[in-house]
This record gives sequence, C-alpha cells and structure tokens, in this order.
Amino acid sequence: MGYRVEGNGPSVAQKSVTKPMGRFVCTNPRGGADDSDPAATAAAARLGPPSAFCEGTLHEPVMPHNDLSDNLMSLQSHILLEEARHPSASGDFTWIISAISLAAKSIANHVRRARLSGAIGRFGEVNVQGEEQQKLDVIANKALMRCLGTRASVAVLASEEDDEPSILRRGNEGGKYCVLFDPLDGSSNLDTGVGVGTIFSILRNDPSIPDAQETVCQPGTQQVAAGYVLYGSSTIFVLTTGNGVALFELDPFIGSFLLVKDKVRIPESNKVYSVNEAYAPTFPEPYRKYLEWAHTSGYSSRYIGSMVADVHRTLLTGGVFMYPPTKKNPEGKIRYLYEASPMAFIMEQAGGLAFSGANRTLEYKPSKVHERVPVLLGSRSEVERVRSFGG
Ligand code: AHG
Ligand code: MN
Ligand code: MN
Repeated sequence: MGYRVEGNGPSVAQKSVTKPMGRFVCTNPRGGADDSDPAATAAAARLGPPSAFCEGTLHEPVMPHNDLSDNLMSLQSHILLEEARHPSASGDFTWIISAISLAAKSIANHVRRARLSGAIGRFGEVNVQGEEQQKLDVIANKALMRCLGTRASVAVLASEEDDEPSILRRGNEGGKYCVLFDPLDGSSNLDTGVGVGTIFSILRNDPSIPDAQETVCQPGTQQVAAGYVLYGSSTIFVLTTGNGVALFELDPFIGSFLLVKDKVRIPESNKVYSVNEAYAPTFPEPYRKYLEWAHTSGYSSRYIGSMVADVHRTLLTGGVFMYPPTKKNPEGKIRYLYEASPMAFIMEQAGGLAFSGANRTLEYKPSKVHERVPVLLGSRSEVERVRSFGG
C-alpha cells in the first residue's frame, strides 16, 4: 500500500485503492545543490532554473480490498463463536482446537527450518505400518502428543506414528473426546521442500467401551470436527465442525491463524484428476476406464504426492483426488481414521463428495486403528463421473 500521485510529473503510481487528498506542487531539487560538490553543481546546471517540476493530486491510501491484515477473526474467536451456538457447550472443545493450533505453529516452525536445524532425513525406525519414519514425523508427533495430552477433556489419542491409541483419561478421570491424527502427511517429500501437513479428526469418547482401539473405530459420520494444516508456501488451517468449512492462514507476525474464508465451497466441477497414474495398470478396471476417457476429454493431471496438498488444491479449485486399490496396496493406501474420514468430512461440508469403494467414506466403520481404504473425493460432478464408470 502506498500514496499515489496523479498529475503531470513522473509516474509513481502504485497498485492500491486511493482517495484524493488535495493538490500538490513540487519543484526540482537543484536549488539546494551544495556549491562545494562539483558533481551536484553540474547536475543542478543540467536541470536549468528553478521551476514547478510537477503538480497534481495526492491520493490518500485506502486499504486494498484484498488485504486481510486487519482481519482479527482468529481461529480461537471463530471456535468460541461456533460454541456459543450450543448453549450446553463447556469450552472443552475450544481447548482442544487451541492445542492443535499451538502444535501446528510449532510444527510449521520446525518444517520451515528443517534443513537449517538438521531435521531433514530418516529417523532410523520403521512405524507399525512398515513405513520409514522421518525425523520430522517424530517431532510433529511429539508436538501434538504434548499439546493435546495436557488438555483435560482428551480421553484417547491415536496417531499414525504410534502402534496403539493412548488412553489418557477414562471413566472417573473424565475425558470427553478422542483425537486422531496423521502428524505429518507427505513426509517422504520433505527432502524436496514440497508442502506437507497435519490431518486430524475429533470423535466423542464413549467411557463404557474399555478398549481404546474399539473406542476410536467409529464411522466418520460420528466426527465432531475434522481438519488439516498445510505447511506450504503459507501455513493454512482448514476446519469443519459440521457447519461448513472455514479456512485460516497463519499470520507469522502476530502468531495467530486468521480467518481467510468461511463457508468454503468446492467448485461443482473442474477437468482435473489427481492420482498416482504410474499405478494405473493395477487399478480396478473402472478407474482405468475413467482415465482412458479423461485422456481424450480435455482433462489435466495434478499430483503432488502429499494428500493434504492434493486435497487442498482440489478443495479450492475442484476436480477429483483418488487413491484406488493397487497391487501393492489392495485395500488402498490411505488410512481411514486420520486421513480418509476427516478429508471426507471436509469435502462433504464444502459441497463435494467422498467415496471408499461403493459406499460413502463417512459411513464406513473400521475395525482397526490403522486400517486403509480406497479414496475417491472431490467436486460433486467429477466424483459422480468416476463412479459412472463403476469406480
Ligand atoms: P504419510 O506421509 O502420512 O505416510 O502419507 C503419505 C500418503 C499421502 O500423503 C499421499 O497421498 C500418498 O501417501 C502418496 O502415495 P504414493 O507415493 O504411493 O503416490
Ligand atoms: Mn498421511
Ligand atoms: Mn504421516
């Protein structure tokens, strides 16, 4: 943002919205030349006698219409307003979101400085799912465990990086919610600076179920909230509590996630598909047929290889994201509880669709914490198009 002058002098116009403040006249600077400086004296001589150099109207800067830097609707305020709509709400839920937000800021900081602080690379262990852990997987997991673990309303935590869900408080000890998360999605891409993210899902705790695994194995329809944080060119927090989708961006100067867009809607259609097409020869036939059709129907392909980044692009610009069953992963690769289910909740809340095989992703009930499912989600008409091939 800057002042804009309009007149007969040199153009210093800047891109901002302005309103006129009044007239101005400026003269050339040669009258102030210091005679002891030969270069300045020569320059003044070249400019000629004193005269009006330029004149015109000075415009006062007005906030550009797309500048949100004075928007102080923080994530915290947004959740408090949402909670106020439920008179019985106790504020516990706000504390959980604030723990995720705090952990996300810490993870964002680690991700941004990863190479400088030596946090890039393998941790040296394999998680229960047979995947090699990156140092940042472990750092992100610790940040979430620590921040969420201190919240009195958290009963159970389940993470992609841990073999079993952790019971923190049950029965008499309280604990209303279970929080499930993928601490760092797309972490195998960290070496190349690609966007990565955190995905989370919040479920109610049923204290009558003693087993932690059974407690968290709920269908996605039972989610109280879900969201993700994308550590990309900026840090983005996307959240749904079942009342539409809200998008926040981290303002690093004040350390808060600020509301950028409420009630986000996914475009109804867009000719873009996002899939690891190298595996196409082992996809079930309907997916192969769809891709063959798309190749001759003006479609573009976009695939980052970080679900958070691919889903975020799909949410904002439309199209379809898929991870079908493959020969290597016959059940699909995406984990139900902390990847497919929260993303499906967000998609549906934004007006899109999400399917796992023949059924709505949200209606599936897993039986294991790290269970995998096929994923097909995105714009309504694009998902329906894939399904029309039998996918
Ligand atoms: P994670 O890094 O949490 O293990 O998840 C990786 C997932 C997901 O982010 C992405 O969509 C998918 O793996 C990519 O798999 P491919 O490399 O097989 O395409
Ligand atoms: Mn993941
Ligand atoms: Mn992960």
